[in-house]
Amino acid sequence: MLVLGIETSCDETGVALYHSEKGLLADALFSQIDLHRVYGGVVPELASRDHVKRTIPLIKQVLSEAKLTRNDIEAIAYTAGPGLVGALLVGASCAQAMAHALNIPSVGVHHMEGHLLAPMLEDNPPAFPFVALLVSGGHTQLVRVDGIGRYKLLGESIDDAAGEAFDKTAKLLGLRYPGGPEIAKLAEQGVAKRFKLPRPMTDRPGLDFSFSGLKTSTLTAWQKCIEANNASEQSKADLAHAFQAAVVDTLVIKCGRALQQEGLTRLVIAGGVSANQALRMALEKMLSHLNGQVFYARPRFCTDNGAMIAYAGCQRLLAGQKEGQAIGVKARWAMETLPAI
Ligand code: KG4
Ligand code: ZN
Repeated sequence: MLVLGIETSCDETGVALYHSEKGLLADALFSQIDLHRVYGGVVPELASRDHVKRTIPLIKQVLSEAKLTRNDIEAIAYTAGPGLVGALLVGASCAQAMAHALNIPSVGVHHMEGHLLAPMLEDNPPAFPFVALLVSGGHTQLVRVDGIGRYKLLGESIDDAAGEAFDKTAKLLGLRYPGGPEIAKLAEQGVAKRFKLPRPMTDRPGLDFSFSGLKTSTLTAWQKCIEANNASEQSKADLAHAFQAAVVDTLVIKCGRALQQEGLTRLVIAGGVSANQALRMALEKMLSHLNGQVFYARPRFCTDNGAMIAYAGCQRLLAGQKEGQAIGVKARWAMETLPAI
């Protein structure tokens, strides 16, 4: 089955063609980062308008790259939530209109399920069951995964998501949006252990996270540098290093706990923050001690993309799931409510 995937939940327009037997045939992405950067974060109305401009040209691009025509498409998968409603509606309307015109089925995909299944696009994909750490701009969750749609939420952030903490902390340090890659780059020049930051909620049992206090501690440390006339580029790099180390340590501790609690040794990391090299290395180290394995997607498929939506949608379509003709999207949508296939 040849599936067209469309992702428009936030600030990237992602389109891909995935074939159930041949695999990924083409994928294309337009990132709106430059559009939103001047505002220091995503402006929802600008995001929607830009998706309108990009979606159809990107569909034409993937079809031409795969040397196919729209009549070859057998089904369409689109992100139906969670995300920005206006942005989601662009992809959903486009997908539903095309599905109607071509008389083919469509399916609305959960954005985080897309992220969760992205490592399945790589060689040596993880087998079920596994623990998944979902770390994006909007979500930080630990989930036990027994199959597609068989999700048990083990823990989540009670305030900021990990990616959000990277973005907000970067802004406080005067770095550009999105903050994750900027902090990661700066942290490479940083000296370890100069600043001591907390590892929130690791001193008590449980699998929930909290990142907003860490952001405040980082700001306080930076303000002290400014007061001491020591707000140099090196100080900023050292603080970026300390912040990243605190986030990584916290995530590693909670992943270890979740694996132990569930009696599992396979860990999947997905979402934008799973592109972080320091996080990958620290988790690999921990999993090697447990004789386990950590799985992740190539960096391009950690952040938002159309390939993960085409893949997740294809699995659900093959199981017989499809939408009616209504165009419905959800700003909030709990992944545990998805049907098992
Ligand atoms: O999954 P994603 O593309 O979008 C959402 O669904 O939210 O994740 C975007 C988030 C942003 O907060 C960004 O700063 C973060 O992922 N991110 C990173 C890295 N690359 C992207 N955070 C840390 N290190 C990175 N290398
Ligand atoms: Zn995402």
